[in-house]
Amino acid sequence: MSGSFLRCIKCHKEFNEKEILYACPSCGNLLEVVLPISELDPDELRGSFDKRPLSVWRYRELLPDFKGKAPISMDEGGTPLHRCSRLGEKLGLRNLYIKFDGMNPTGSFKDRGMTVGITKARDLRVKAVVCASTGNTSASLAAYAGIAGIRCIVMIPSGAIALGKLSQAMMHGAEVFEVEGNFDDALELVMSSSRELGLYVLNSVNPFRPEGQKTAAYEIVDQLGGAPDSLVIPVGNGGNNAAYWKGFSEFKELGLAKKVPRIFGIQAEGAAPVAEAFRKGADKIVPVRKPETVATAIRIGNPANWLKTMNAIRGSKGDCIAVSDKEIIDSQKNIASMEGLFVEPAAAASFAGLVRLIEAGDIDKGERIVCVATGHGLKDPDGAIRVSKKPVKIEASIRSLKANLGA
Ligand code: F0G
Repeated sequence: MSGSFLRCIKCHKEFNEKEILYACPSCGNLLEVVLPISELDPDELRGSFDKRPLSVWRYRELLPDFKGKAPISMDEGGTPLHRCSRLGEKLGLRNLYIKFDGMNPTGSFKDRGMTVGITKARDLRVKAVVCASTGNTSASLAAYAGIAGIRCIVMIPSGAIALGKLSQAMMHGAEVFEVEGNFDDALELVMSSSRELGLYVLNSVNPFRPEGQKTAAYEIVDQLGGAPDSLVIPVGNGGNNAAYWKGFSEFKELGLAKKVPRIFGIQAEGAAPVAEAFRKGADKIVPVRKPETVATAIRIGNPANWLKTMNAIRGSKGDCIAVSDKEIIDSQKNIASMEGLFVEPAAAASFAGLVRLIEAGDIDKGERIVCVATGHGLKDPDGAIRVSKKPVKIEASIRSLKANLGA
């Protein structure tokens, strides 16, 4: 999109998109891309979008402009919006949906942002890209850097990421470093590596990544024929919920949606600084020093996007709450066994949060509700096997089968 620029989310200072910046040089807060919405013609946009398949680049007029050069893409986006009849019935909801973003090329929503981020990296002719990751970002970055032929360095918390994700980063050819420490330590190292070594950072502090991620909100509006009433979404580093908020808000401003949903962020109890700030009505988070949860993707104590997240959730009149590991695993099992969707634990946090929000009366049963499932269950097979009923060994005989079936 030409005519867009970068703006600090706090002091609103403006910057050129060509500058490599992850934070405002004046006040240190994060930056976002601002579109010249008033210069756009909604009818023209609608016509262009409708000619293309549901995908990230269907919305290219609202994405960074690469001067006619094709983006580096694997046809990401266009993920199913699954209507949950059985889970809906269980909770007494008629209009419950799961946006299954685990169906992206590398199995998580990160691909939406990475197609934009890596295309930017190509345009900037950077020598190497880098990220810290609880797993999915590293898998996605490794894949896209491979396509672009750009050197890729990923830093993961030692021993703390799901095996499927690690195998992806390794197979796609990234240089993988296991950092002694947690995700927050790895991200700090990444930020200093960018200052000291000039590596291009593709964590969600990069303002172009959320631009790709916001397309999931556009897709939901197009799939439903309007915005939902409530959106429930896991929160880790805090980038994705803010990206959805931006997407819904832009569609509303353009007149392509009548409203924005309330956004409910869900954290895991052992890693819940944002939920804690909301519980206390505070303006700032207090970082959690030793975050812990089975949902390794969101085991983050000091979310870099905390202010964007709080602005998004407050701006939408939503809330942020925390759920226990047991609630997360129960939800993962229910989504898999009743709706046929295998989602990873972090992705199941949204449904676990919805159960609580319905019980508390914070979301009305008559609402149109979308839960975001951010990553695929095959990312973490060890975890799934650990919490599931074990297979029963039998002899290869009908007698043995009958005995074990209780028939
Ligand atoms: N769900 C999954 C499956 C994730 O991988 C992540 C984040 C989130 C939710 C939270 O999104 O950080 O934008 O609030 N994963 C990052 C990673 C941190 O490194 O893969 P967020």
